[in-house]
Amino acid sequence: MNIVLITLFPELIQQATGFGVLGRAIKQGQIKLHCFNPRDYAEDKHRTVDDRPYGGGPGMLMKVEPLAKSIANAKEVLSSTAKVVYLSPQGMPLNQQRVINTAATVADLVLIAGRYEGIDERIIASLIDEEWSIGDYVLSGGEFAALVVVDAVARLLPGVLGDDESAIQDSFMQGLLDCPHYTRPENITGLAVPDVLLSGDHKAIKRWRLKQSLGRTWLRRPDLLDTVKNKPSQWDAEKADLLAEFQAEYEAGKINKSSN
Ligand code: ADE
Repeated sequence: MNIVLITLFPELIQQATGFGVLGRAIKQGQIKLHCFNPRDYAEDKHRTVDDRPYGGGPGMLMKVEPLAKSIANAKEVLSSTAKVVYLSPQGMPLNQQRVINTAATVADLVLIAGRYEGIDERIIASLIDEEWSIGDYVLSGGEFAALVVVDAVARLLPGVLGDDESAIQDSFMQGLLDCPHYTRPENITGLAVPDVLLSGDHKAIKRWRLKQSLGRTWLRRPDLLDTVKNKPSQWDAEKADLLAEFQAEYEAGKINKSSN
């Protein structure tokens, strides 16, 4: 996937993208990431990138011309069909389904990281395809949000994760939260690894993990569970039975309420 990230702070992006799975995806070429800085498109001698809002009030907006030129140049370099996304708290919520769709269908992506109080509404209306938010809180700029998008998409591109890191098992890939995980030692100050995980019975382990995923989702994110229950492709009698088992154990006090 080719990505142009429009930002006033390209160094921040470069520093953050050299590590781990994302660093590898960039090194191997599954992601080609370039930063365009609106400051490079500013034509006055101070290379101004902010401007005052009509109507007054505190704060500045990103200056229109340098931003519009950055977007136009990004589309020229990528393709005229590149998808243009502006990161802002007003956007549609980013979730794993949006990430999956993007990884599967978008070849060229332009991400715009806003600064100051944001960007002119007419840029949004005329040059931007979608506005995405990474959550109901306000960051001081869109860079970290854009990095979240790049990271979440990169790991789903073919060949980026090895078999042992497969994304299928992730939280949200099946619409559910992930199950708990354990590693050595077998006992940490009296807290033991669940017996089933030591049993070698792969079928029982798989069943236990699905039950924990369902139970955790029920406890922590009932909204996600409702969505899964309403999708015939994601809900079946086995899941209903496992959830009922978890709920019965939970009500009987057999499941540690604080750790769930
Ligand atoms: N820019 C500032 N806050 C943001 C958020 N929550 N999501 C996306 N972009 C942002």
